[in-house]
Amino acid sequence: MKHFSAMLVLALGFSALFAAAPQRIILSPCEQSENNMALAFRFYEAVDSGKVQYTLNAPDVNLHKRAETLCVATEKVFTNAGDSVLHYVCSIRLSDLQEDSEYAYRVGDGRNWSPWYTFRTAKRGFNDFTMVYLGDPQWGFETYLPRLYQRAMLTAPDAAFWFLAGDLVDYPYQDWQWDAFFRGASQAFSRYPVISAVGNHAYLWAYRDHRDTLPPNWRPHLTQPENGPEGLEETCFYVDWQGVRFIVLNGNEQLEKQAEWLKGVLKKNPNRWTVAGIHQGFYPSGYNRDYPEYRRLFIPLMEKYGVSMVLQGHDHAYTRTYPLKKDKIVDDPAKGIAYVISVAGAKQYPIQSKFGDLFAVQKAESEQYFQTLSFYADSLVYRSYTVSGDCHDHYVIRK
Ligand SMILES: [Fe+2]
Ligand SMILES: [Fe+2]
Repeated sequence: MKHFSAMLVLALGFSALFAAAPQRIILSPCEQSENNMALAFRFYEAVDSGKVQYTLNAPDVNLHKRAETLCVATEKVFTNAGDSVLHYVCSIRLSDLQEDSEYAYRVGDGRNWSPWYTFRTAKRGFNDFTMVYLGDPQWGFETYLPRLYQRAMLTAPDAAFWFLAGDLVDYPYQDWQWDAFFRGASQAFSRYPVISAVGNHAYLWAYRDHRDTLPPNWRPHLTQPENGPEGLEETCFYVDWQGVRFIVLNGNEQLEKQAEWLKGVLKKNPNRWTVAGIHQGFYPSGYNRDYPEYRRLFIPLMEKYGVSMVLQGHDHAYTRTYPLKKDKIVDDPAKGIAYVISVAGAKQYPIQSKFGDLFAVQKAESEQYFQTLSFYADSLVYRSYTVSGDCHDHYVIRK
């Protein structure tokens, strides 16, 4: 009996100590990436305000003594259908950061802290860098996805940011999926700022009544730019990173409004390179899938204003088109746009597409992939890798 009491005391002590440990830590780039960095995290227990400590990174172990501390009011968010899971969410944009600098940060409730993690701010003006792009995670959060994140981190350790092409989880009203998604990716998301496109599965929150409405748990999970059209904040936006404009579209609603916005964002664009990301493929690889309205609304603008590549998901296979202009293959990658569909997670589909003739590479072999894009002053080098680290596709645009 004594033994059980001691266990009970220990267990209570343990749970009190970690009662308000921060979870689901995720960095996100801001529109002005040289001086800002956004981050979100949450607690499962009631916390009035979270804390963020940050300082320029250094090798010594006194970061906690000189770090600046910010208080972040928590927002209460129900993450399950039926209002059954309550989280206390913190979301903040750190501003006035030094450009081209590595910062150390940690988050917590003031008593319980995460480890010290690091991130890096962008350089001003055009400078070479590499980013990572992943197709849908969706399945295999703590089984198959961690090995992919690990391989991507080994392949591009200095990646500036990661882009996820949507369908982060399968059913967003099941909170355990978010839990598993963030746990499986914690090493990556605490180091690399993440840009996420919103997939059709994000909208399944309100499956019964409001299938065309973004559920209330998307925005608290992420802290993405709010520079898109009104009503589409944090799902349609752009980030400028070292001379590259990365534009994210929301393929699920208000497409006409986004096309209008896209025109302005492409027209007034001082960057060297422009890349777009959207969940649904413009030239889909899946059976019976076709979305002509995306091609009609977005491609003429992208062609006119020199978008180089469009990064997509949704079809759970790998396809990369030849460079295309007006739906036709062109010889020179600099004169067309390459459209990629990829998949990161364990959900896999066959390829049955009416656009097969446009695909330079197509693979549907139940494999996981990740991609890197390296931007240089005169070239964009794109590579796709299997989860084993083999580069199975390579595409270069020179201009
Ligand atoms: Fe999808
Ligand atoms: Fe998907």
